[in-house]
Amino acid sequence: MIVLRNLVKRYGAVTAVDGLNLEIRSGEVVALLGPNGAGKSTTIDLLLGLARPDEGSATLFGMPPATAIARGKVGALLQSGGLLPDLTVAEIVELTASLHGKARPVPEVLRRAGIADLAKRRIAGLSGGQQQRVRFAMALVADPELIVLDEPTTGLDPEARRAFWSAMHEETAQGRTVLFATHYLDEADAYADRIVFMRAGKVVADGTASQIKGLAAGRTIRATLPGADLAALAALPGVDQAEGRGEAVLLTCHDSAAALRALLAATDARDIEVTGRGLEDAFVALTLEGAAA
Ligand SMILES: Nc1ncnc2c1ncn2[C@@H]1O[C@H](COP(=O)(O)OP(=O)(O)OP(=O)(O)O)[C@@H](O)[C@H]1O
Ligand SMILES: [Mg+2]
Repeated sequence: MIVLRNLVKRYGAVTAVDGLNLEIRSGEVVALLGPNGAGKSTTIDLLLGLARPDEGSATLFGMPPATAIARGKVGALLQSGGLLPDLTVAEIVELTASLHGKARPVPEVLRRAGIADLAKRRIAGLSGGQQQRVRFAMALVADPELIVLDEPTTGLDPEARRAFWSAMHEETAQGRTVLFATHYLDEADAYADRIVFMRAGKVVADGTASQIKGLAAGRTIRATLPGADLAALAALPGVDQAEGRGEAVLLTCHDSAAALRALLAATDARDIEVTGRGLEDAFVALTLEGAAA
């Protein structure tokens, strides 16, 4: 559905996208994750045909992006712009609908985006989060097969974020393909089948949330063990590091099963908890690794 080959985009001295390759298949829900300036928005601009690549190519549905968009196959929510302040909510969504060959009924789309009660309000008077929902409605109205969202939940309160994602779930349940850019690791973890991690214009990791988490490898064992010998614990099989936390110990492990067996055999540890490291750790690790490289 999306094929990006060796994409390069430069802005003066800045290489915003630096030889990016990415394929996204029909039905996938993909998060484009990365720190500020990683090149997420530029990648989205290139794949929507809003910017021209300096090198490489972007195709949607096997066509040039502009053709796919003209056929109403793509709905997009961009990070900024796109709203005409003097129109009402219903008018701008109707206008967007009229630009596409096929469109969903506007009242249904407004309901879906949670703004049915704002239909007659002017855009200029809406809050940032309300405007974000209008952008979402504009992305949905063309009944697109592919939805591209650049930081869709920026400015939404927690309740609105939940409502947004539950609306998105209904969209993806109908087999739509979704690509969304985000900094929110919890969102990528909760809503994407696949996470593409970008840094400095390149894809540095691509996989399921658990594969990405695995990159910041290992698990942590926490146990109550008063007077623990930390050096001895650090030497147990599977353990990389042992730290004391009051009466508790924290073992960072590359093989938690081996570590757990050894811990139980060698000590009187109790209240044992084993946890995987979160996506947050993976994000920090990948960002730092990239910076070091
Ligand atoms: N129109 C432009 N002119 C000059 N530089 C640009 C332009 N657009 C992007 N850049 C630069 O390209 C790099 C990538 O920017 P981009 O907006 O794609 O990042 P991003 O991953 O979307 O970041 P954020 O998370 O902050 O939205 C940045 O260094 C940015 O300053
Ligand atoms: Mg961006």
